[in-house]
Amino acid sequence: MTEPISDPFADRVSDPVVVGTDGSAGATRAVEWAAGHAVLQGLPLRVVHAVERLPYDGPRYPIPDSYDRLAPSGRQLLDHAERVARDRGPGLDVTTELAEGRPGRVLRDQAARASEVVLGSHGGGGFPGMLLGSVGNQVAGHVAVPVVVVRPEPPEAAAEIVAGFDCSEASGPALAYAFEEARLRGHRVRVVCAWEPPVPYGPVIGMDLDGMRRAAEDYARGELQPWRSRYADVKAELEMVRAHPVSALIEASSRAVLLVVGSHGRNAFTAAVLGSVSRAVLAHARCPVAVVRAR
Ligand SMILES: Nc1ncnc2c1ncn2[C@@H]1O[C@H](COP(=O)(O)OP(=O)(O)OP(=O)(O)O)[C@@H](O)[C@H]1O
Ligand SMILES: [Mg+2]
Repeated sequence: MTEPISDPFADRVSDPVVVGTDGSAGATRAVEWAAGHAVLQGLPLRVVHAVERLPYDGPRYPIPDSYDRLAPSGRQLLDHAERVARDRGPGLDVTTELAEGRPGRVLRDQAARASEVVLGSHGGGGFPGMLLGSVGNQVAGHVAVPVVVVRPEPPEAAAEIVAGFDCSEASGPALAYAFEEARLRGHRVRVVCAWEPPVPYGPVIGMDLDGMRRAAEDYARGELQPWRSRYADVKAELEMVRAHPVSALIEASSRAVLLVVGSHGRNAFTAAVLGSVSRAVLAHARCPVAVVRAR
């Protein structure tokens, strides 16, 4: 892993936090979270609603006024979201935008003029038991800025931000986000580094598992040191967990206000937009998840 980049989010300092809403309860939680986060960062908030064409409005059966028919309820929904945001952050600079198109596409375009994109894990669609809506799947990992996916139920949180750390370069921007966030909120960072013996039958063939754990911990500590020095005012703790990273991070998420992960990890498979750990925690975490893409 290289030295920490000087300020990975420096060029985004004045772009607004963008939040997508479809008017559902899940999206309203996202609007509340985004408003709080915009206040914390001293950034404006832009609330976006995408109006999709009616399902039967296609080239063979065009419905010429499809968008005009849907736009008024879209505007109403945005007015409501704006009130919710203003309640959360009196004095907050809030704008709203009604856009025509598929929500995932619209929010990906919006990300080009955003400091981050906030979404609900669920919206008004979906099916019982669904863990992550299609918009989260279409946006997280696809855009350059961090994407925060907020869950409907508030976390039972300690004053703690969890960062997933696999000692790869891809963890760098995620660590930066976690430390910045902890500094802003006055919270501590728990850096969770999950490790597993390379083969399941290690003990059988006499592998020195304690030695292995110590080596992994020493290495992780060394890689973390530049971050501790740069954020000397932030309390940080390294936790080595002998488990699959998904289990370790989900467990840690039950005590956190926010879980931060990179879009890819050490085993990056370049064709995949999101690594398997990021994908799994987006679906299963118990608190909001920020996915931070490596630059
Ligand atoms: N039309 C939209 N405009 C803007 N943001 C949207 C829109 N629809 C959804 N979103 C955002 O995406 C989040 C998740 O909604 P999503 O549509 O992915 O899930 P869903 O409605 O439960 O299931 P489905 O994927 O079947 O639609 C919402 O909470 C909201 O933040
Ligand atoms: Mg939906």
